[in-house]
Amino acid sequence: MLSDLTVYSDGRFLRYDEAKVGLLTHGLQYGTGCFEGVRGFWSERDEELYLLHVRDHFERLAQSAKILMIKLPHSVDELTELTVDLVARNNFRSDIYIRPCTFKSAEEIGVRLHDVKDSFAIIALPFSKYFDATAGLTCGVSSWRRIDDCTMPARGKITGAYVNSALAKSEAILNGFDEAIMLSHDGHVSEGSAENIFVIRGGVMYTPDPSDNILEGITRRTVIHLAKNELGIPVIERSIDRSELFCAEEVLLTGSAAGVQYVASIDHRPVGDGLAGPVGKKLAELYNQITRGELPKYADWLIKTYASRTVRA
Ligand SMILES: Cc1ncc(COP(=O)(O)O)c(C=O)c1O
Repeated sequence: MLSDLTVYSDGRFLRYDEAKVGLLTHGLQYGTGCFEGVRGFWSERDEELYLLHVRDHFERLAQSAKILMIKLPHSVDELTELTVDLVARNNFRSDIYIRPCTFKSAEEIGVRLHDVKDSFAIIALPFSKYFDATAGLTCGVSSWRRIDDCTMPARGKITGAYVNSALAKSEAILNGFDEAIMLSHDGHVSEGSAENIFVIRGGVMYTPDPSDNILEGITRRTVIHLAKNELGIPVIERSIDRSELFCAEEVLLTGSAAGVQYVASIDHRPVGDGLAGPVGKKLAELYNQITRGELPKYADWLIKTYASRTVRA
């Protein structure tokens, strides 16, 4: 129940129901906010909740905030510490999702970025699967194009920009697919509604270059590292044609919420033989082991909530 949660809002720990925003809030009316999606993974074996890449998420939040002329109230280190404290206060013993957000909080009419008061909050809640897709994801190429950097920078995780994702996602679901793949303004593959994309052809992994209007995903970075260093597979960041999706041996979608998912079909064409491929399987397995604290080599990607908590007043 949401009302059971403790959240952090503008300097205070409050019950979820006590932390309110007004109807005229700038970020609600104009989409002038940005956010992050951080995952925590419960390990029954270790009785520990592992938080993944927390610092990286706050570094990206700081970049998104800068684009929006929002000043974060704390440093990346302080925000990391605050997050661990908040999660520990909630005593979660399950997988979780953490949503730090910052937004223009003035309650007044007038669209702009400058000279508007900012607010900051963190909400953490139990969360298991984003996709229920043991048989892989079915995807459709969206009729909606990905927002362009000159229109609304996809590099920032900006609240208002998620209308673009929502248009594509609803179109995909209502057309019978699990997820949308959006093309950039020039027709190159960009990303899913909330995931980055990888295309595997001839033993090489390709993923769109950041200038193809993607969010520079933290899972994307993780998967690139694992493919190169654990699997010895070359990864090339370059523009990808739509038709390459249909000629791929494997296609993967990656994201903090989604994890590492294989795509079974795109626009009704099976990807490879439509089953999980060897690269996707290995990467998903590594990702699952790492996020549950089972590969000591990658322990520094994780924070142990209960072992490392610093209590704040
Ligand atoms: C549009 C978009 N692309 C990609 C991603 C994946 O990014 P990350 O791996 O940092 O979660 C997300 C999720 O945050 C997203 O919303």
